[in-house]
Formats: sequence, C-alpha cells, structure tokens
Amino acid sequence: MYTPLQNRSEEGEGSQSSCDQLLEKESYESYRPSRSNRKRFFIPVFVTIATTLLAFILGTWVGSQKFAPTNRKYLEHVQNYSPILKEADTSIHKVSFNGSFMKENVFRQGAGPEVDAAWESLGVNYRSVAIPVSEASASGLTPSHVQINSKYGGGFPANVEGLHHLHCLNLLRQSLYFNYNYYHEQGIGAFKNKDSIIRFHVTHCLDIIRQQLMCRPDTGVLGQVWWDKAAPKAFVDFNTGHKCRNFEAVRKWAEERQIDDSVPEDFLMPPGDSEDVYDAIP
Ligand SMILES: *[C@@H]1O[C@H](CO)[C@@H](O)[C@H](O)[C@H]1NC(C)=O
Repeated sequence: MYTPLQNRSEEGEGSQSSCDQLLEKESYESYRPSRSNRKRFFIPVFVTIATTLLAFILGTWVGSQKFAPTNRKYLEHVQNYSPILKEADTSIHKVSFNGSFMKENVFRQGAGPEVDAAWESLGVNYRSVAIPVSEASASGLTPSHVQINSKYGGGFPANVEGLHHLHCLNLLRQSLYFNYNYYHEQGIGAFKNKDSIIRFHVTHCLDIIRQQLMCRPDTGVLGQVWWDKAAPKAFVDFNTGHKCRNFEAVRKWAEERQIDDSVPEDFLMPPGDSEDVYDAIP
C-alpha cells in the first residue's frame, strides 16, 4: 500500500534506514555533519586515484612513444648496425615464397647468360662501399680495419653482408655438379683462381650461409598439400607466407654507393700497426 512521503517520514521518525527520510528537511539537517565528514575522506581518495590514473596513462603514452618497436629499433635489436638502417627503407612486407618443386624460375635455370643476369641483378657482384669514419664504430669497424686515404674521402671499404650471402649462394649454384664445367671453362669471377682456391671459396660460402641460416632459424612451419587426383598423396607445401625486409632498398643502397671501379694506387691507407697485419689469409 502506497504511503505518502510525509506520512512515511512521520512513521519512520528516529529510523535512519529509510532513504526517503534523507530528503526530509529535518533529517537532512541532522545528517549533514556526517556527510561532510565523508567528503573530507573521499576528496583526497578521489584525487589520489585520479592522479595515479593520469600518471599511468601519461607514462604509458610517453613509454610507448619512446620504446615503440619501430622496424628500425627492432632491426637494430636483432642484427648489427650499419648506416643502411638509417638510410634505406626498413619496412616489413608480406611475401609469398615460391616453393615450386617442379616449375623452375629464372634463378634455377641451367648455366647460361639468362640465369647469370638474374643473379647479377641481385647485386651479388657489387664493389665495396665506403662506410664513413663517423659510422665505423657503430658498424663494428675498428682502427685495425682497412681504411681509405683521407684525400679520397676516407672511410672504411665494406660490403653488405646480405649481398655477400647471395654472392655465396650464387657461387654454390655455379658450383653445382651440373653447372660447374660451364663456369670453370668460362674462368671468370671466382673461377679465375686455381681449383684448390675455388674449393676454399665454395666451402667458405657454404659455411657462411649455414651460419646465417642458423643465426635466425625461420620458425614458420610447412604444411602439406594433396596432389594426384587419381591416388591422392601428401606433399610438403613450400608456398608459405613470410614477412620480409625491403631487399630492393638494401640492394639499391649498395649499388649507388659502390666505390669506383678503378682507384688510384694509394687509395688505401697503409696499415697503422704491424700487429694489424695477419701472416696469412684468415
Ligand atoms: C613459382 O614460379 C614458377 C616459375 O616461374 C611459376 O610457374 C609458378 O606459378 C610459381 N608458383 C607460385 C605459387 O607462385
């Protein structure tokens, strides 16, 4: 049964349990001191919570700005620095590998000018670049390394590791049992050397590629596909997706900075310390 407010307040006089009572002038007055006590308690608590929240949000934002894992920061974390990281695109792209077993692309063709041109276009035979003295230390170059005479601009002659890996893979390709005779007879590049040196060159290349692949093992996985409609059989699916650097940007960086083909006799600074000179090719 509905009881009018006034009546109820009369009924409930002395009882603090009714909420409606708080609206009653008399009750409100009597409750006032305790409410301002609460205020005194809640304002500092509220300010503390608000300040903490604000500091957290601000801190998170500042932190995310400073430590955001940009591609460049990430790359500096997982590989050696060189000015390429500053001067060439460091973006990452999704790439589908062509894992065809039976269909040969240009890089897989038998020895000849076409396949050679394809590999050449990757920058496998680029000449050195000059790493400026200011970038040397960060790039892992020490005073023991070979330097260019300051009258020719100074700096350290150097090659991009990634292009050397491809150079090596290309030498392995040329050394495959079905390609070897062709390149050996041509006698150019690595095949100018005598056979014992070619062998060292090839095994050096094999082992560098091994170490590079083991340095960053690809933890993606290869699933399997069905082939043969008549009698389905499983076969590894090598056509997988990958996240790749911009190879073209790295290649171009190295291409544009190649040191001149012919350089003066005194292009290189002589060794500073005889301790820096090895007895034999390391
Ligand atoms: C891989 O390359 C071959 C030869 O160029 C081509 O025929 C084939 O369609 C390619 N496969 C994929 C999955 O792109």
